[in-house]
Amino acid sequence: MISERARQISPSETLAITAKAKKLKAEGKDVIAFAAGEPDFFTPDNVKAAGKKAIDNNFTRYTPASGIPELKEAICNKFKRENNLDYAPENIITSNGGKHSLYTAFQAIIDKGDEVLLPVPYWVSYVDQIRLAEGTPVFVESGDDFKITAEQLKSKLTKKTKAIVLNSPSNPSGAVIDDEELRKIADFAVKNNLFVISDEVYEHFIYNGKHTSIASLNSDIKKLTITVNAMSKTYSMTGWRIGYCAAEKEIVGAMNALQSHMTSNPCSVSQMAAVEALNGQQDSVRKMKAAFEKRRDLMVSGLNKIQGISCKIPEGAFYTFPSIKGLNLSNSRELNKISGTQKSQGDFLGSRDFTMKLLNEKYVGVVPGTAFGREGHIRLSYACSEEDIKRGLERIREFVEGL
Ligand SMILES: Cc1ncc(COP(=O)(O)O)c(C=O)c1O
Repeated sequence: MISERARQISPSETLAITAKAKKLKAEGKDVIAFAAGEPDFFTPDNVKAAGKKAIDNNFTRYTPASGIPELKEAICNKFKRENNLDYAPENIITSNGGKHSLYTAFQAIIDKGDEVLLPVPYWVSYVDQIRLAEGTPVFVESGDDFKITAEQLKSKLTKKTKAIVLNSPSNPSGAVIDDEELRKIADFAVKNNLFVISDEVYEHFIYNGKHTSIASLNSDIKKLTITVNAMSKTYSMTGWRIGYCAAEKEIVGAMNALQSHMTSNPCSVSQMAAVEALNGQQDSVRKMKAAFEKRRDLMVSGLNKIQGISCKIPEGAFYTFPSIKGLNLSNSRELNKISGTQKSQGDFLGSRDFTMKLLNEKYVGVVPGTAFGREGHIRLSYACSEEDIKRGLERIREFVEGL
């Protein structure tokens, strides 16, 4: 009954954890969530006011599928101001969130059998979105620092390679690709005529230095790049569902045709709120970044104090991605029981078992590295209060000591 296309999509690994955490919370348990991928701040007041005004002004009808002119103009100004990128409104398409923009971008440029280079660890949805476009995700392992290099990408180049996915700062690792490497990746893409889908939704959360959009490096790479961004993380607007893309006119045209049949326009009220977010005061972004930086330092130093856990300092986003390989989980009888398989001595047992047991016993929600293609790690979001970070880390320490 169900299409092959739908059947090939694997349910998100994070879903089981999230569902379980919700159930425990509903039962009245004191769950500490390090699993969430969204800022815990409220949408800024000026943005909320713009949304309310849009409703009161009856701005509640269909808009053009690619977005209202005011929003496209605000996005063009943002690209100029923040990314040194010149785009005209015809190069811009808005959408129902960054995820939606990514989905439509893959649909617009990928044909059956096309290979897409995907750095590991990756954000979960890329894999399934590429497959839904009938493309083949080609996994490219990054090193211990999680920063993909041009050389690593080159090693997986074939005649079928069509595109590269970049996500800097990265979810899950927080790694930021430095400008020198970005230049080499751009040269590699231009030389081989590869599209670059550059997911820059965490651009504002870089704690040392400044974000560089790969499209801004030169006009050749700009032609090949689809820059994806969203209001969700930067302005704490995850529920409003506004994302956007900048690309060559032909690509935007194809995406527009697809979106016009799939979703019509992004929510009219949210578009008005997005205009205010982009054009209005940016204090909220600075405040959020300062809070995240403090929490990051608290979380990283706390994690590194736990025997067997080792955490690099992430340069961006709001996640830590520590290694738990030092815990020697294969020797834990309890965890072996959960996984149902007896692993041989020395085998690393699994971040998924670790995650489930941690949630069941200590009510702390984290995401296993397997969800992002990198076993031996867990992802913890620090988009939560300092109090929760301290309490959660204390529980993880107790849990680890009891293994
Ligand atoms: C790397 C990355 N890209 C895109 C998105 C999608 O964001 P949005 O909520 O705007 O769809 C997320 C959200 O978690 C993300 O982590």
